[in-house]
Amino acid sequence: MTMLIRNASEILTMNAGLGVLKNASVLIENGKIKKVGEIKSDKRTNVINAKGCVVCPGMVDSHTHLVYGGSREDEFALRVSGVKYEKITKAGGGIASTVRMTHQATEDILYRSAMKRLKNLAKHGTTTVEIKSGYGLSTVEEMKTLRVIKRLKKDSELDIVPTYLVHNIPDQMRRRDYIDLVIEEIIPKVARAKLAVFCDIFCDKLAFTRRESEKVLSSAKKYGFGLKIHADQFGDIHGAYLAAKLKCVSADHLEYSTTGAVRAMKKAGVIPTLLPGVTLFLQFRKKPLVKTYRKLRCPPALASDYNPGSCMIYSMPKIVSLACIIYGMHVEDALLGATKYGAKALGLFNRIGSITVGKQADFVIFNIDNYKKIPYYFGEDVVRYTIKKGRIIYGKNS
Ligand code: NIG
Ligand code: FE
Repeated sequence: MTMLIRNASEILTMNAGLGVLKNASVLIENGKIKKVGEIKSDKRTNVINAKGCVVCPGMVDSHTHLVYGGSREDEFALRVSGVKYEKITKAGGGIASTVRMTHQATEDILYRSAMKRLKNLAKHGTTTVEIKSGYGLSTVEEMKTLRVIKRLKKDSELDIVPTYLVHNIPDQMRRRDYIDLVIEEIIPKVARAKLAVFCDIFCDKLAFTRRESEKVLSSAKKYGFGLKIHADQFGDIHGAYLAAKLKCVSADHLEYSTTGAVRAMKKAGVIPTLLPGVTLFLQFRKKPLVKTYRKLRCPPALASDYNPGSCMIYSMPKIVSLACIIYGMHVEDALLGATKYGAKALGLFNRIGSITVGKQADFVIFNIDNYKKIPYYFGEDVVRYTIKKGRIIYGKNS
């Protein structure tokens, strides 16, 4: 199977900065990138005329909580009337309310609702997505969610990376007992069933301490999991420093992380991952140090953090816009964050995240003629085609 994406106004290769090629083409063979640049057209089976379009690597959403039961619009309504997320959480809402609704849902229900969400992701240009468990908490319920993710991985057109997330302490359980359960039972079971690639923990004042997080992640490492961490979202408890110490693949959120933490992450090769959709959704004032990341040459990934509580945005182009508008990220850095550095945050940059010969043919083709219009057209749906391994998985002709 050969496909030619012909004569794009711009191809963003993501090699050496954005690596913009003007009026260029991409040739795809057997789901991989065969050639990039000036390509003479012959009688190819499948030609996409990309004149007036921007071709970009498929978006990589490296942080989502896509599998859950129910919805939390009542909490949204409370929040916009002035009640804080932390207060709702302490009153038994927040993560705990989604845990209750997820317990009530069967595997089929969870599968079907998540599959719909995945279709929406594809519609907005995402070709690879990480999905976390974490609304189960008990062994049985975490395994249930991870099995749903496994089924989605088998059936979806997108590449899915599964993560076991240690998200919160269940009601009526002592913290210490729960940590023991996670270490002695859940992590070994998830590892044995090969249901997750990464282990993640919510290291924050609303959930696990730095010490607890270190204990859990160190044990996960022994079982061969790659490590991720939700760090410094509601306060600085040195979660990002812990990420550096444990050589986590990524540290995510980072609103309260300091310059020292950015240095430590850079030194340890941790990919900082910023989630501007949450900043918008929860109306956070505190923002990550985007200027520092730029100055210290520690480029961040961007992700949606799609979840029912703190961000219901699954469009990565919108996340790119928000990173620019709310965080003041440069357009180029934001686009790199949604592709190249997203791929690095999943340890997949050898396969995806740039338009390079030999890599997987995952693209998003935007219906606009230069890349600055991607975040600029905030209210418009500018995705024309999403292509996964050389196959159109979403497309419209207008
Ligand atoms: O990544 N920060 C912790 N967990 C989620 C929110 C979970 C929820 O509210 O359901 C997040 O933002
Ligand atoms: Fe999250």
